[in-house]
Amino acid sequence: MIIEPRMRGFICLTAHPKGCEQNVKNQINYVKSKGKIEGAKKVLVIGASTGFGLASRITSAFGCDAATIGVFFEKPASEGKTATPGWYNSAAFEKEAHNEGLYAKSINGDAFSNEVKEQVIDLIKNDLGQVDLVIYSLASPVRLHPMTGVLHRSTLKPIGSTFTNSTVDFHTGKVSQVTIEPANQDDIDNTVVVMGGEDWSMWMDALIEANVLATGAMTLAYSYIGPEVTEAVYRKGTIGRAKDHLEATAFEISKKMEGVGGKAYVSVNKALVTQASSAIPVIPLYISLLYKTMKEKGIHEGCIEQMQRLYSQRLYSGQEIPTDSKGRIRIDDWEMREDVQDQVAALWKEASTETLPAIGDLAGYKQDFLNLFGFGFEGVDYQADTNELVDISSIK
Ligand code: NAI
Ligand code: NA
Repeated sequence: MIIEPRMRGFICLTAHPKGCEQNVKNQINYVKSKGKIEGAKKVLVIGASTGFGLASRITSAFGCDAATIGVFFEKPASEGKTATPGWYNSAAFEKEAHNEGLYAKSINGDAFSNEVKEQVIDLIKNDLGQVDLVIYSLASPVRLHPMTGVLHRSTLKPIGSTFTNSTVDFHTGKVSQVTIEPANQDDIDNTVVVMGGEDWSMWMDALIEANVLATGAMTLAYSYIGPEVTEAVYRKGTIGRAKDHLEATAFEISKKMEGVGGKAYVSVNKALVTQASSAIPVIPLYISLLYKTMKEKGIHEGCIEQMQRLYSQRLYSGQEIPTDSKGRIRIDDWEMREDVQDQVAALWKEASTETLPAIGDLAGYKQDFLNLFGFGFEGVDYQADTNELVDISSIK
């Protein structure tokens, strides 16, 4: 079978195993090129198969030589359907890690459930004893609450008033106005339940209770702030409320971790093309202007560059971990630089279907989007017959 990208709306229905493998290899090579990091040795990554979580796992393993357990929710290939990209990424990651003698095992299931938490704890107890870093990098539109059985759905809506601004369909390059009606209280509450800090806190409670956190262990979740143009729909919208909750939860978790001398942090990361961010209105237009600006200035980063810098220059630099006035680690510092934001704000005013090819990096956006699914990589023969069933070796 020759696997081609099949787009539907904000997702691609197919993924390429060899391309996903190439993506993982490229990220591994990048981390290796930056040298060793004196950091965590036993790492649990929740949301480990794509985006920032995958990059965190790769940096842990190939930067710090860490043993990793990865948790994710992905689908293997089935009759006439490819696996999801995170499946292929994880298979490739394990293969490369095992080749270098690094411990790597994965659990595929719903991280919000009690069962998966129990499975992970059993695995840690059996294989690693304890972990010294827990990365929490879930992005999900839904959460089945383990205590109530209620399925909560998150929304991406403004709060208080209707929001209208420019957006781009990155497939066609068409810039248009999008109008989003404000959220009601249920929308806000549900988004906080799905993307806020409750599940992170439940994970940490379970890990503390089971005594599987090493002395001085750290845990980290990821947040976003971003520019004024996306504020109404992002940071001051429903998802922003969830991020406020996530950030507040870090302080509560830190208190609970005092017993093991540990600490919880939130890292504010850069806006990047991932499956999660492509679905948010307005963000793709902002990202295409941001990419253009940051590439021109020579400070563009992808997930792996962000995570490698987070580990080497924030978490494990040998200095005290620097945080902002709200206790957050800032690795979005280059995105938020005044010269970058001023230029993006100026470009924003000019953005139209006609101007975007010149003032924005739509090509870079599309390339990154294709890359998420294993397409568009150099060194991959996309005309070759690709029939093999790809297994994640630790998942039986
Ligand atoms: P992503 O969509 O690439 O990764 C999500 C991960 O969560 C995948 O590994 C997926 O398998 C896993 N997952 C989803 N539902 C699950 C479930 N029920 N059980 C187990 N695993 C599940 O997302 P991305 O963009 O890497 O986001 C990770 C975090 O980073 C999120 O908190 C996001 O808000 C944050 N972030 C993202 C930014 C961006 O521009 N993409 C910017 C700053 C922060
Ligand atoms: Na992730």
